Formats: sequence, structure tokens, C-alpha cells
Amino acid sequence: MSAPQPIHLHDYQPPAYRVTHTELKFDLSPSATHVSARLHLERHPERQQEAPPLVLNGEHLTLLRIAIDGQELEAGEYAVDDETLTVHAVPQRFLLDTEVEIDPAANTALEGLYLSNGMFCTQCEAEGFRRITYYPDRPDVMATFSTTVIGDKASVPVLLSNGNPVERGELPGDRHFVTWEDPHPKPCYLFALVAGDLRKVEDRFTTMSGRDVTLQIWVEQENLDKTDHAMASLKRAMTWDEETYGREYDLDLFMIVAVNDFNMGAMENKGLNIFNSAAVLTHPLTATDAAFQRVEGIVAHEYFHNWSGNRVTCRDWFQLSLKEGFTVFRDQSFTADTNSAPVKRIEDVSFFRTAQFAEDAGPTAHPVRPDQYIEISNFYTLTIYEKGAEVVRMLRNLLGWETFRKGTDLYFARFDGQAVTIEDFVDCMREVSGLDLSRFMHWYSQAGTPEIDANGHYDYAKGEYHLTLRQRTPATPGQHEKLPLHIPIRLGLVGTKSGEDLALTLDGQALGKDAVIHLCEEEQHFVFTGLSEAPVPSLLRGFSAPVKLRFPYAREDLAFLLQHDSDGFNRWDAGQRLAILALDDLIAAHRNGVEKVMDVRVVEAFRTLLTTASDDKAVLAEMLTLPSEAYIAEQQPVVDVDAIHAARTFVKQSLAVALRDEFMAVYHDHRAEAPYAPEPDQIAERSLKNVALSYLMSIEDEEAVALTQQQFEAGHNMTDVRTALTLLVHSSRDDLADPALKVFGEKWAHDPLVMDQWFSIQVTRPQPDVLERLKFLMQHPAFSLKNPNKVRALIGTFASQNRVNFHRADGEGYKLLADVVIELNELNPEIAARIITPLTRWQRFDEERQALMKSELERIRAEELSPNVYEVVEKALA
Ligand code: PHE
Ligand code: ZN
Repeated sequence: MSAPQPIHLHDYQPPAYRVTHTELKFDLSPSATHVSARLHLERHPERQQEAPPLVLNGEHLTLLRIAIDGQELEAGEYAVDDETLTVHAVPQRFLLDTEVEIDPAANTALEGLYLSNGMFCTQCEAEGFRRITYYPDRPDVMATFSTTVIGDKASVPVLLSNGNPVERGELPGDRHFVTWEDPHPKPCYLFALVAGDLRKVEDRFTTMSGRDVTLQIWVEQENLDKTDHAMASLKRAMTWDEETYGREYDLDLFMIVAVNDFNMGAMENKGLNIFNSAAVLTHPLTATDAAFQRVEGIVAHEYFHNWSGNRVTCRDWFQLSLKEGFTVFRDQSFTADTNSAPVKRIEDVSFFRTAQFAEDAGPTAHPVRPDQYIEISNFYTLTIYEKGAEVVRMLRNLLGWETFRKGTDLYFARFDGQAVTIEDFVDCMREVSGLDLSRFMHWYSQAGTPEIDANGHYDYAKGEYHLTLRQRTPATPGQHEKLPLHIPIRLGLVGTKSGEDLALTLDGQALGKDAVIHLCEEEQHFVFTGLSEAPVPSLLRGFSAPVKLRFPYAREDLAFLLQHDSDGFNRWDAGQRLAILALDDLIAAHRNGVEKVMDVRVVEAFRTLLTTASDDKAVLAEMLTLPSEAYIAEQQPVVDVDAIHAARTFVKQSLAVALRDEFMAVYHDHRAEAPYAPEPDQIAERSLKNVALSYLMSIEDEEAVALTQQQFEAGHNMTDVRTALTLLVHSSRDDLADPALKVFGEKWAHDPLVMDQWFSIQVTRPQPDVLERLKFLMQHPAFSLKNPNKVRALIGTFASQNRVNFHRADGEGYKLLADVVIELNELNPEIAARIITPLTRWQRFDEERQALMKSELERIRAEELSPNVYEVVEKALA
């Protein structure tokens, strides 16, 4: 087999033929579904002269029939290979009829048409439609669709597709059909079909112009009681998009379907969103607060795609961030408006700085707009999604909301119904603002995380603060030279006497107390004048740019900012920086075999947090949370997982010992009695209470053990139960862990989403027996390698979150992951290529571990690989 070849952005060519209308007929049967397609095709106006052949994509299809304008083709008139169907000579405008047979039951890749729990469903983004029928499978071919679905009345009573149902009826042999019409031209990646024994929950929404929309959520019968939150979230999202972006829904029907086997979170198919059941189903007894919030965010995300993605779509897959970065920014803003804005920012940034920074520093680093790929499904990454969202956020901050909104209005108006590029989007922003965004464009083309070294001093005599900023982006694979970027730095100067933000004057211009300065050169010098007291700078407020910013803060300065910074995000960040400094010392002590001593400044900072009344409990809970092991690791030149784990545990236990009574008081003060609701105030109370409990359990305080057991047994809601179970399972006492696991596992054996949690809790425990437990759990009847949620819950969670055990010195953790990757490479290449990530980060570890990790990667490379796994492994070993 020859090595898969990359596709390049600069090779883009418009399609030779476009499809104006697509008629599909599905005759469903688990192992032999027949798909008939009639494509209304016409040659591209610019390619009339050359009369190119018609080349359609198609994979895993058996062609049964082909005709042009009603004429069956002869053998020599067309050619079929594993990836394409070519018709050598075609007219300028014609009808192409094909019929193919496909095998949904054998489809374990979950791309194209497949079966999940006996229900037919599709996943077409990015290139799944070519597994359904022969088609120009590219996003710049947009057509209206008319789809007829035929199936057994008994096994598939519900037949869904995009748009509106226009006809239904009975057929011989106990079969029936429904015909759907979608009037909005769309690329085939937005096509969807669902057929199964489903039940619906229905609601209505009246749009801003007074149109009535029917909302439906389709689920299996046993999940009918888990749709309320998704429905409420959908309605909130619809209202928010009208109020915030002026975007109205454009069909009479909007459907969501929950499926158990799904590679990603959810998919924005026009009018028929398909969701991983984990991203839509909630119930207070089965889903945590975090899960409720995730559902709200994903429902909104997919809904927002109706404009940012569907009405205006991507010209090619290099532009993926055009829809994803923008839509993530939109869903983040929605969540910030609906819940606690600072907490949303803290959560997003702490995730971003851990996972996206690691991606940017690793072998698969790529720009927000990549310029080449082998397998597009490998590019649904944190860089495309989250860094893409940060780039859009910077545009919003540079332009200000109102001008930015003018830019989005222009974008939607100008490009409605078209497939466009990132330049088209940024051009709208440039037009409405008059800003020169040429240097800003490098954010899209340059990979790697910019590093900013900041230095400052206060000139007492002149009352001036001098700030120097220097930027540098480290080289990334294939990109050695980096250009300076246009970086917005939001900042304040906090007076050390007053604890207040000082008025900022720069170059004689008054900027208020909180301002954005622009770093555009490699190095820039800023002088703030007219200051009456020495300040501590609060830099990069709200994480105003996706960069690493270093500043030589004294620990006293950080403790000061933690108390006084007016920016909630930076207050939290000051605490994180302070904790990191203390952790650095302890990591060094651990490595040198020196006794560990706790920094009293951290203890005192925590004491102040715990004893000062706070009006924002959600932020407080975040501030009391220590940086994760993964984030600490990001700060180390060479990652020593054991030292990090030991240091973090030491800090946690020291705080728990020193502040035992304070934590206990916080626990007791925040035990809300009200019936469960996924509302910000309640969520804040629960997280604060549960953070306190986790400190107390870190020292296995007797009273805390009793409280944890009570909380577990009381079973008020999954947030409290899951926290309690996790604390018991992660404690040193198997006499606490095992009985609780048994009770929980038996109680929820029937609920796959709860069993996912049961798996994850066990494989995150720090005890060294965890790998043996994991192997045992892989044999559990509820586990299956064919179900991506199970793979993520058990294997993914272990490899990415149980750092001490995944990185066991004997390499057994690596070996297990490699074995799973090799098996999944055949079953589900997309998941295989994702789950491998922790192994690709070998450069970050000591030499022994590097060797072990590389040898597992090499073992994988020796297999016959899917393009997905091939691309990742090649990059990791390059
Ligand atoms: N487009 C989906 C989203 O962002 C993600 C997705 C990609 C789902 C590919 C399935 C396959 O919401
Ligand atoms: Zn998306």
C-alpha cells in the first residue's frame, strides 16, 4: 500500500460540476441498504471549454446502476475505483442516476450510514457522505435535497431527514416511507437521516418575526425523562441568537436526535441535529452539574451553526475554523451570558492553557487554518475550535462589540447561501472597522503559542510605570520562521496602597482604568504617566490573547492581586501563579529527596479566601482549586509525573491540615436543601461544598469520611454522589471504595451514560492497581470497543487523566494504549487517531519514558494503518 498523500490549501480548484438539486431514495435494510440518487448536475461556467470528466467521490459502495439523462451507461463509459466514480464524457447540464448498495451493519467507523442500537443514523461531516452515494463530496457544492426514506413499519417506525416532511405512506411488505424536502441549498456534509424506534418530546418556539417553529427531541423510550434541559437550552439559545446576533431560525421544524454510538459530541445537520446521547440527555440523578452545562453549551453550539456553518459554510476543509472557531466563540458567549461569565472564562482558559498549549507545543501543532492535511478528521482539534474561538474573540475585542456585530451582519448578508473563506470573514471585519488586520491574519497561518516576556518598573521620582513587552513564537514542525503577531493586551495597574485600579495615561492619552494596548512589534516599550503610587501590573486580563505571558512577580505581588485585582479572571490567575511557584519548589524538593516545606504565603492566601465573605461563590470555588497535574506539567521543562503528583498532593494535604476547620465550615455552610436545579447559584454552592470536601478527604479526616459516605448514600443528585464516590474510590481505603463501587455499579447497570462515569471514576484513582483494574473492566459486559463513549470513559480518561499510572515506569500503560489503538485502527480509525494523543507527547518526558513511548509508536507504525492513524504516528515519530 502506498503512503497516503497530503492535500494542500494552495491546490484549491472550484468544482468542475455543481449539483443544483439532489434526490435521494433510501431503501433501508441493516446489511443491504439501497441508495438511489438523482443528481441535477451542471458544468461550472468557467470550465465550459475544456469539458472535464465528471469525478465523484464514493467509498465502500457497490454500484448497481448508472444512467445519464435516463440512458444506462455502457461499461467503457465510466470507471470505478476504491475512491471515485468517473464518467468520461458528460453534457453541460444533465441528470445522473445511480443506485448503490451499502452495509450499515458492518459500519463500525460510524461515518456514513450506520446502525446504533438497532437505529439507522448518518454522520457525514467531514467526508462521510461518500460512504452513502457517489457525489462531489466537498463543502462548496451546495444543493437542495429531497429525500425519501423507506423502512419496516415495525423496526423503524420513525423516518427522519433534513427539512420538512412533505409526503408519507404505506408500502407493500409492511413497509412505509416518508419524503423530506430541504429548501435550503447545503453541502452534503450537512445531510442526515435517522430511522428507528424513537419517541419524541415536542415544544414550540415563536421566532422574532412571529413564525411558529416546532421543536422535537427524539430519543429511545427509556430516555423520555431526560430531555427537559436540552429543550430549555435550545429555546434559550434560539432567543439569544435573535437578540445578540439578529439570527432567526429558517425552517418550520427543528429536530434533535440522541444516539449512543457517535464519534464526537454532536452534529449540526440542517434541521436535524444528531447528538451523542452524552451531549443531550440529563437528569438530576444521572448527570452532574458539569454535564448539564455541557449539554446547554453543545445544544447552543449546534443550533448556532445554523447560521455560522450552514447558511454560510466553508469553501473547503482548510477553512474549518471559519465555522468552528466562530461558533465556539458564540457558544462561549452564550454560556457566559446565561451563567457566570468569569467562571465560564476561567473554565475555558484553564482547559485551553492545558490542552491547546500542549497541542501547539507537540508534533501535531498546526495553524488555525492548516495548509495541508492527510486526513481531515484529524483536524477537528483544539487549535481549530478553541484557538479559532480565541482569534474571533480578539477580533471582537479589537473592534468592540458593536462594530464586530456590524461585521457579522455584513458577513451573513453578503455570503448567505455561499461557501466562503476565512479571508471573507476577516474582510468584513476590516470593512466595518477600517482597521488594518494584515498582521492580525498571521494568527490564522502561524502555529505555536506566542510567548511574551514582560518586565516593568516604577519610577517613583516621575510617577511613571515602564512596561516592556517582548514577543516570540517558538518554531513548530514545518514552520521555523515566525512573524510578530498583533496581540491585544488588556491590563490594569493596581495601586499597592489603595488596592484600586489606577487611571492609565499612555502617550498623553487617558485610557481609563482598564485598557487594551497593542503589541505588534517584536519588542515594545510602554510608559504610563501620572501615577500617584507604585502599582502591581495586572496583565492579560480576561486572557485577552491566547499567549503565555511571563512576568517576574514576587509572591507577595500575587497574593496582593489575588485579593485586590478588579478582574475576576486575573484574581484567579494570580492564585494559580502563586500555587505554581510553590509547586515548583516542592517538585524540586521531591526530585532532590529534600524534605518538603509548605509555603506559608499560600496557606495565608487560602485562609483569606476561606474566611472573607465572597459574593461570587462560583469564582471562589475555582480559586480554591489547585492547578491540575496536566497544567503543572505544562510549566515544567521535563515532566516528572511522580514529582508533580507528590508535590500537588502535599500542597493539598498541607492546606487541609492547616485549614481543616475553615474547610469544614465551608462544607457545612453550603449544603443547599432546595430541590435540584442546574442553576448558577446552586451549582456554585455545590462546587464550593465539594471542593471543601475534597480537601478534607485528602487527609482522610474521620469526620470527612463520614460526611462523604452520607453524601454518597443520600443520593440527592449526581453531582454530589459522583463527588462522594470519586473521593471514596480515590482514597487509600479499599474498604470504602469497593462497597460504594458495587452499590453504584449495580444500581446503574441499565444506564450507559452513568456506567461511563463509573468507568472513569475507577480509572482515575491514583493507586498502582489501577492498570489491572482497567484490564478487568475492559471485560465488563457494559464495555465495548465499538462504542466511542466507552472507549473515552475507560481508555481515554486513563491515558489523559491518570498521569502517574499511565506513565508507569515499566511502560505497561503505554503498551495498553498502543494495543487499543491497534484494535481501533480497524474498527474506528477516527477514534483510534484521537485516543493515541498522550503517546505522541513523548518529547516532554525523561529519556527512559521517551524510549518506551516511542517504541509503542513504532509498534503501531508497523501495522497496516488507516490514513488517520498513519498521519498522527508519522508526525509523532518525525
Ligand atoms: N461539526 C460538529 C460540531 O462542531 C463536530 C463534528 C465533526 C461532529 C465531525 C461529527 C463529525 O459541532
Ligand atoms: Zn461545531
